[in-house]
Amino acid sequence: MVLGGAMLLQGISFGRDEKNEALWTTHGFSWGVGSSAYQTEGAWDKDGKGPSIWDAFTHKKGKVFMNETADSSCEGYYKVKDDIQLLKELKVNHYLISISWPRIMPTGIKKEQVNEKGIKFYNDTINSLLENKIIPIVTLYHWDLPQVLQEKYGGWQNISMISYFNDYANLCFEKFGDRVKYWITFNNPWAVAEEGYETGEHAPGLKLSGIGAYKAAHHIIKTHAKVWHSYNKTWRSKQQGMVGISLTSAWGEPVDLTSQKDIEAAERYVQFYLGWFANPIYSGDYPEVMKNYVGKKSVQQGLGTSRLPTFSVQEKSYIKGTSDFLGLSHFTTRYIIQKNYSALRGPSYHNDRDLVELVDPKWPNPGSKWLYSVPWGFRRLLNFIKTQYGNPLIYVTENGVSEKLQCIQLCDEWRIEYLKGYINEMLKAINDGVNVKGYTVWSLLDKFEWNKGYSERFGLYHVDFKKGNKPRYPKASVHYYKMIISANGFPNPREVKSWHQKAIETCSITNQLLAAEEQRNIAANILRLIHDPLTTHMEMVTEIVVPTVFTLCILISAILLMFLLRKHN
Ligand code: BGC
Repeated sequence: MVLGGAMLLQGISFGRDEKNEALWTTHGFSWGVGSSAYQTEGAWDKDGKGPSIWDAFTHKKGKVFMNETADSSCEGYYKVKDDIQLLKELKVNHYLISISWPRIMPTGIKKEQVNEKGIKFYNDTINSLLENKIIPIVTLYHWDLPQVLQEKYGGWQNISMISYFNDYANLCFEKFGDRVKYWITFNNPWAVAEEGYETGEHAPGLKLSGIGAYKAAHHIIKTHAKVWHSYNKTWRSKQQGMVGISLTSAWGEPVDLTSQKDIEAAERYVQFYLGWFANPIYSGDYPEVMKNYVGKKSVQQGLGTSRLPTFSVQEKSYIKGTSDFLGLSHFTTRYIIQKNYSALRGPSYHNDRDLVELVDPKWPNPGSKWLYSVPWGFRRLLNFIKTQYGNPLIYVTENGVSEKLQCIQLCDEWRIEYLKGYINEMLKAINDGVNVKGYTVWSLLDKFEWNKGYSERFGLYHVDFKKGNKPRYPKASVHYYKMIISANGFPNPREVKSWHQKAIETCSITNQLLAAEEQRNIAANILRLIHDPLTTHMEMVTEIVVPTVFTLCILISAILLMFLLRKHN
């Protein structure tokens, strides 16, 4: 995920809420970890899977860091059983996964083909999770649209996606809904729209600035509503599950709390981010502020209608109330100030908002460029959701931090600090009355990070991508998160401190073992070289044959010389 370019805010000391050290615990709560199909499964063209827009995108040069692809990624397709062992080790209550649409419908169109091997793969995965008492939370769309739908119809630019996706969702409900009780229609539709159709940094890579993202989002919201109604009408009474959507948002904090302009700009930031999708679902329409700003700029640009599409009266009431729970993905915060952008710069989602994003250089920023650790922003965002959308049931579907290191570094103290801070702020929000019932660390494994390839690692488990079988190694945060789960939060500061120490001890031992293993590998390689028949042969050549031949040559030349001299005399 990439946020709009943020500038560093120098020389101002903020530290809002940072000193609030109270620790909390919670009860009746579900703790979990997450992953997604394209980022981990690999097997991109195996067992009848069709290509997705991400396969097509990554196979083009220049789209992804180092031209990396997720063709094999973590080999998750072949390692379900191993990964379930990791989940058992963590003792999580739930595991968030996604289904790859083209793995079960290669062209995306149900009447054309359903891939039984794909269905079997997800059936086996779900069954194994349940056998191990882990609740599956299943996302239907984590960005891997079947490529055929992109080529034939332009993907989310086209309204026909509604019925193709609805067919796909119904097939999933039919095949898996007897066992899956938590469904998420879309993961982070903001990124699908903004990065797929505005900036083009993500698949399908279209740069339709100021227009494409609004159109894609409009179709996604309608599709979500359609699927919720399908479940409600056809499956809910039999299956007794829930259908939600997972929305991503950073928190926007006004730089100057006494400036009305900054306060409004910060509110606008969150409305253009979270409200863009949440408002139609909870209140029946786009946020007023979005309608006003995009409408105003569109007029200034000489357009007859707003670039932000409109919902009809019937559509508004059809969409309103279509989420049994809100999935929330949250990673970071921005400071916001008001700034006017002239409409003459041309259509742009970013300029439509009339604001600037800033960051405090003191915020920890261990991995991804956009990801600063600002735990207090989480509590504010959760309270915002409570007041804006009528205190909905919330499951946190993604929260976590990355690192940039390429070599094995298992002592991830920055992740421990991040998790401690963010989970604690979530627990405070629960104490404020926000209805959060589950939390998911993003993510179980290091994996393919979209246009950043493998350069950013979000995993609790390190994956060695250089080895064919992609071995997983626990980072220290595994042990730390495990203790949070078993205590249902943070019982008291002293105990939490000891968790930290214990976690770091485990990782330094594992680090040493791995280092020793690496040493052993190096030693073994040297030995292999020595005992290698080829090496021995080479040694013979250099140490015995060459000097012998050399000496013989000199001897023969000397004899010849003597012979010639005698003859001459
Ligand atoms: C996406 C994840 C991604 C994460 C970090 C989230 O919005 O859903 O797939 O790994 O951002 O970039």
